[in-house]
Amino acid sequence: MTTIGGYTGAVRKAVVPAAGLGTRFLPATKATPKEMLPVVDKPAIQYVVEEAVAAGLDDVLFITGRSKRPLEDHFDRNFELEEALSRKGDEERLALVTESTDLALIHYVRQGDPLGLGHAVLMAQSHVGNEPFAVLLGDDLIDPRDPVLPRMLAIREEFGGSVICLMEVPRESISLYGCPAVTPTDEADVVIVTDLVEKPDVADAPSTLAVIGRYLLDPAAFAVLARTEPGRGGEIQLTDALRVLATMPSEEGGGVRGVVFSGRRYDTGDRLSYLQASIMLASEREDLGPDLRDWLKEFVAGLQ
Ligand code: G1P
Repeated sequence: MTTIGGYTGAVRKAVVPAAGLGTRFLPATKATPKEMLPVVDKPAIQYVVEEAVAAGLDDVLFITGRSKRPLEDHFDRNFELEEALSRKGDEERLALVTESTDLALIHYVRQGDPLGLGHAVLMAQSHVGNEPFAVLLGDDLIDPRDPVLPRMLAIREEFGGSVICLMEVPRESISLYGCPAVTPTDEADVVIVTDLVEKPDVADAPSTLAVIGRYLLDPAAFAVLARTEPGRGGEIQLTDALRVLATMPSEEGGGVRGVVFSGRRYDTGDRLSYLQASIMLASEREDLGPDLRDWLKEFVAGLQ
């Protein structure tokens, strides 16, 4: 199959890079993949797969690395546990166990050398082929009540090219993110990306829009990634490939638009934001919410 850009078919596949070391969460991540840390009572990565599936992308490819077996096991059957719960007649918990197995058609490829996010995405080429595809980063948890993928899919369907997700952030935190230069369009939440820089210094940032870990990529991205040299941190950066795509003609699969997201998003790769995500999601749950909220009020009142 030749990989030429500008493919106009629907997005069906999601790629989820999960090869990172999770050093920000040591020692918890010494023997447990960071993607498996629970947010309330579900591994962070399951929220991401559920988000993809809810948007109609039920073919999910994980790009994994060493020590990611627990992640593979989580999306596989656990006969022993299923058998035990079923013997006890505990249908409710049995459903929780089989939920992740039945969620999607899951595939895996190993990244081998950890050469960066761009390299991880390039590993998806033989599975994805000449189709547009989504990339979802596990550290970004989009609140299930504020889905962004449907809007991004609609923009891809209308204009082709690639679509990234952007969020306004305070200028002082822009150096944690990819950052685009943009021009507005007639739609308030859509911009045209004219340039991109990975984790700029605050003084050099072309905007205060941060790239959030949701991407729809034209298959032309693969050829671009294959010739992308290591960039920031000596890694092959997806941001650098998007920068090239932004200036390529649309007939070749170029063009990058941004959807400016204003919903709830948590960075589960950051400890403080991870704790906030757990508390916010738990406090709004029917089973845990009322008790947690009561306790929180008391707790906060007691804080100096
Ligand atoms: C990656 C991307 C960056 C993006 C961020 C979103 O960085 O390289 O452009 O803004 O994800 O979460 P990371 O956070 O993996 O260092």
